[in-house]
Amino acid sequence: MSTTIEHVLKTIFQPYKGILAADERPSSMDRRLQEYGIADGDAMRSRYREILFSTPNLERTISGVILSEDTFAQHTVGDVLTRDFLRELGIAVGVKVDGGLESYAGSDTLQKTKGLAGLDDRCKQYREQGAGFTKWRSAIPVVGATDDFITTVATDMATYAYHALQNDLVPIIEPELLLRGDHTVEATAETFTRVLPAVLAALAEKKCNPQQCILKTSFITDGLTDGVLSADETAKRTLAVFRETKLDGNKGFYGIVFLSGGLESKTAIAYIQRIKALAEQEAFKTPLSFSYARALQEPVLLEWKGEETNVLNAQLAFTQTLQHAIKKYKGIEEAPRCGA
Ligand code: G3H
Repeated sequence: MSTTIEHVLKTIFQPYKGILAADERPSSMDRRLQEYGIADGDAMRSRYREILFSTPNLERTISGVILSEDTFAQHTVGDVLTRDFLRELGIAVGVKVDGGLESYAGSDTLQKTKGLAGLDDRCKQYREQGAGFTKWRSAIPVVGATDDFITTVATDMATYAYHALQNDLVPIIEPELLLRGDHTVEATAETFTRVLPAVLAALAEKKCNPQQCILKTSFITDGLTDGVLSADETAKRTLAVFRETKLDGNKGFYGIVFLSGGLESKTAIAYIQRIKALAEQEAFKTPLSFSYARALQEPVLLEWKGEETNVLNAQLAFTQTLQHAIKKYKGIEEAPRCGA
């Protein structure tokens, strides 16, 4: 393993730290601001990100930040490029290099990820500009993912990982199982057990060592429509499926991080708190952490409301959210279900 890859992996998986995903494309970020009743556009997106990244002591709880390509290239905090500002704090900087989704083979429900064209050159450039890692997201429905589709998604993901590794960048591989819908936890587990071996086989085919890669995954839990499973149940199910797919040990990924996938902030935080504690109790060896966008940002947007007078409160809400996210929850939750 190159010293750069090793250094980035160790930086990201420091105890009591996680990843902030701030890699929404401009159009997605505008939609997010609108959802919270905040004016959109370049200036507001830029100010919002500046508020996030300049939150005091960010580096005490955040070890990596994922940026979109435009933010990585241009965005500043004060007059310093964001990528340099974060690196100065000792935070690893990543770039989302996929190009979003397009219909798969004319399907109405399946979408495949674009972005392989020119990827090697982009990775080279990002590496030269100080990126330590990259991310590639695929979106996989829990119900209706065909074998062909899974193979295609896995092959493209491995091709992406190959280019990242060739350029000394740690690849985050994100086969996101979409949580929206009314599917059961058993269905989520079943789809995961189809997807994961396909991803590992595709990596092997490209001679990419998963020990140099990070898996970014959804929790193994119910679809969101009918409420969500308790943190305890989700943690148990997730670790059980990870064991079944041989993700604990030196043949799996270096580490695993979770996306929040539309779960409410408090639920996603309860899940990561519980899963970390259970992993420790059960001596699950692969490092686990969070890589949340919405679950970390929801409290900030609620406080900020687009007003300068609310900036300090928004940063306080962010800090408190991050502090919760890094704590382990050791109690057992009795209630089988929470939320609706
Ligand atoms: O690709 C998804 C993001 O990196 C994570 O977003 O935590 O809002 O699901 P999320």
